[in-house]
Amino acid sequence: MSRKSTFPLAVLIDGDGFHPAGWLHPAAVTGQAGKIDRMIEMARVAEAAKIDLFFVADTPAARTDQLDIWRRWPKFMNVLEPMTLLARLAGETSHIGLGATVSTSFFEPYNIARQFASLDHISNGRAAWNVVTSSNDYAPRNFGLDRLPPHNERYEKARESVEIVKAYWDSWEDDAFIYDRQQSSSFDPAKQHPVDFKGKYFTVHGALNQARPPQGHPVIIQAGASGDGKELAAETADVVFSAAGDLEASRAFYSDLKGRMARYGRDPSELKVLASLRCSIGKTRQEAVDKYHLLQSLIHPDVGIKMLSEQLGVDLAGLPLDEPIPPGVIPQTTNREKGFFERLRALILAHPTKTLREIYQLYDYGTAPICGTPTEIADLLEEWIDTGAGDGFMLLFNTLPSDLNDFVELVVPELQRRGRTRTEYTGQTLRDRLGLKHRANPHPSRTRDKMVS
Ligand SMILES: Cc1cc2nc3c(=O)[nH]c(=O)nc-3n(C[C@H](O)[C@H](O)[C@H](O)COP(=O)(O)O)c2cc1C
Repeated sequence: MSRKSTFPLAVLIDGDGFHPAGWLHPAAVTGQAGKIDRMIEMARVAEAAKIDLFFVADTPAARTDQLDIWRRWPKFMNVLEPMTLLARLAGETSHIGLGATVSTSFFEPYNIARQFASLDHISNGRAAWNVVTSSNDYAPRNFGLDRLPPHNERYEKARESVEIVKAYWDSWEDDAFIYDRQQSSSFDPAKQHPVDFKGKYFTVHGALNQARPPQGHPVIIQAGASGDGKELAAETADVVFSAAGDLEASRAFYSDLKGRMARYGRDPSELKVLASLRCSIGKTRQEAVDKYHLLQSLIHPDVGIKMLSEQLGVDLAGLPLDEPIPPGVIPQTTNREKGFFERLRALILAHPTKTLREIYQLYDYGTAPICGTPTEIADLLEEWIDTGAGDGFMLLFNTLPSDLNDFVELVVPELQRRGRTRTEYTGQTLRDRLGLKHRANPHPSRTRDKMVS
């Protein structure tokens, strides 16, 4: 009998919990995202459960207007800078992968390449970079821009950025640094391959001032759901966080994305799709549903309206809460997160009689929630994998740390018992654990002596 394979699990930790009202839940510990001891504790909990990847989402900005509303939804308002945080977590853990978001719209490729290469060295091959183009107008203002550049330009720039970052990671061969005292030669000059890039957005020449990362390339993650996002992922990503919503849509996303890879000479197995899911776990299904509904009911009306306004890219403030949203105010498209926009737009159009309040209470911000007992959730995760909706999961938690603790205490052992998730860490690096190959340096190997003779 063929044995079903194990699948990887990643956790997204954003301190206050992913749900807009997560921090208001009585079980939440507030302000965790800014506290190193709390982040270490959660990383250790995840590592004890043999989770593959501890991931920190980010945007490089605080909100600076409408603070009377944002104070009720403190997303990204008090967080540790992800790369410094992960460097510390690297020292506090030994196997779990460490991933963070850094935006190609604002950070120079050299800085990105250097930081992730360093993290890969510091963690012995556990680093992962989530490539995003950003989706709010607060971040650009910290970098000399009034607003986000158009969506297609952001992706064009991201494509250049990823190409340059990878080229920096290849700017030395793996065995370039030799420290041969007898020959008075610390590195082999023939093993440097400087980046020489002239593009629309970047012009760079240079090499990293450190040895090649242990993984060759730190793992590259992408989570865009637009056509441009999927195309970039098909060409360059090792991991994609999908957030298509339900099982059917996730299957369609999965096969669409994998189908695009052949154009770039890539095999579908070279990219792992981690389906984003939020679990509400209860002793009974009803208890889990009630838990989720409690959170939805805790969404303050100001936050509900803000959440919909942000995702639609139009300000709904001032519309009556207990009347339907007039279809005329819903735009056809957005310059922001296209995948999330399409899902919300479809929801509103499918429920023309629901009021604004009902829509925000119905809307699942970010990803589909699954409510159930540990057994039901384990069944569902298996179904998603076995029917082609993902290669593994990116788990988000409404309330932290309680939902993370519930997941690792109740669902992980069930999945382990069924032989579907790991019980021990294997391999040396995050790439090994995700079933991804070490990235060989594409430059033909050279040595100085052979060049000279
Ligand atoms: C699990 C998950 C995590 C994400 N983390 C971040 C993040 O940390 N920062 C960010 O700006 N966007 C983040 N995103 C958003 C995506 O990277 C992407 O920008 C968004 O889906 C819009 O891309 P699109 O217009 O191609 O759909 C995340 C998305 C998902 C599904």
